[in-house]
Amino acid sequence: MPEESVYDSLQKEGVSRRDFLKLCGVMAGAMGMTSMPPLEKSGLPSSLDVTEAKSVERIAKAMETQPRLPVIWLEFQDCTGCSESLTRANAPTLGNLVLNTLTIEHHEALSAAAGFQVEEAKQQAMEKYAGQYILVVEGSIPTGEHAAYCTVGGRTAEMILEEAAAGAAAIIAIGNCAAFGGLPKAKPNPTNAASVLDLVKDKAVVNLPGCPPIPEAIVGVITHFALFGVLPELDKLNRPMAFYGKTVHDRCLRRPFYEAGKFALTFDDEGAREGWCLFKLGCKGPTTYNACASIRWDSGLSFPVQSNHPCLGCSEPDFWDGPGFYQGLSAPINRPNATAVGAAAAAGVVAGVAAGAANKAKKKQANEKEE
Ligand code: SF4
Ligand code: SF4
Ligand code: F3S
Repeated sequence: MPEESVYDSLQKEGVSRRDFLKLCGVMAGAMGMTSMPPLEKSGLPSSLDVTEAKSVERIAKAMETQPRLPVIWLEFQDCTGCSESLTRANAPTLGNLVLNTLTIEHHEALSAAAGFQVEEAKQQAMEKYAGQYILVVEGSIPTGEHAAYCTVGGRTAEMILEEAAAGAAAIIAIGNCAAFGGLPKAKPNPTNAASVLDLVKDKAVVNLPGCPPIPEAIVGVITHFALFGVLPELDKLNRPMAFYGKTVHDRCLRRPFYEAGKFALTFDDEGAREGWCLFKLGCKGPTTYNACASIRWDSGLSFPVQSNHPCLGCSEPDFWDGPGFYQGLSAPINRPNATAVGAAAAAGVVAGVAAGAANKAKKKQANEKEE
């Protein structure tokens, strides 16, 4: 592993002890430390006692002792939007930490070198840090007779992934494309696109879906593994609970309108202008697990629903082929990949709408009585 600790590296960049501790505090929030699993569940090595109660102290201790983490970042059938998202991380110090302080050994889009030079550097890094590096995959992988749709240096994405996965300590499938196949896998899936988990069966894989994922989630998960050598607690779809444990609907600022049965029916009606719920305009927030409503985007500025656009469900499997953009969820989602929780949430939606309507009817009756 690279010998220098993260703290050593920050000190070299002129970061004071005070700023260092401040950074640890920000990272504790970004990493969702409260959901950290016990070591024995992770199956991954760590020399640290992660049972200490105070997360900031744990982060500071880890940053002072842990060596920097080698990261190899591969891009396949992607639009580079996920990489772009990382460079927009909320606190510049966090983005900087991942891009500079951790050892990103290989990233095609951010690399100064090109062509065979960069391929050679990647091979060297994979050999040097065999079994220790974290592999980040962006984009889906075309497979079988369609494998040639994505090649780098004359080799298919499938071959490149197989080789890089073999030497990785853990893998992060970043974005809906890598986690679930994303847009390339949408019907009719012309490249027979697959997700990382479809192809890699013998390694720990964390899915960070979203199109793209929230930058804080990317930074949080990478730094979590970098500092503690364990992966965060995951849900049934291998998504970190800290960022995907609640639906967009759970924390949505329009939720009171949903409960009151007040829905915008067009994008320019009175309801839309008043900030009413977008459920009837196709909002998939009730069945979409993501932290958009709490962390938000662009330094906490806004998120789609706040900007008057329904959630499209971009952190769920097959969202392109789902119940349809801009079409209201009127019944539980009936698609093969829907989780039990997702279906329950959809059922909750129906109940919620019914409750909203019932409330409305009751209020109407009460008003009539009063009159
Ligand atoms: Fe681009 Fe979205 Fe795929 Fe990321 S998940 S590579 S942003 S299409
Ligand atoms: Fe917010 Fe959408 Fe839920 Fe309405 S349906 S409260 S807009 S997440
Ligand atoms: Fe995606 Fe919905 Fe958030 S569309 S960005 S999960 S609000």
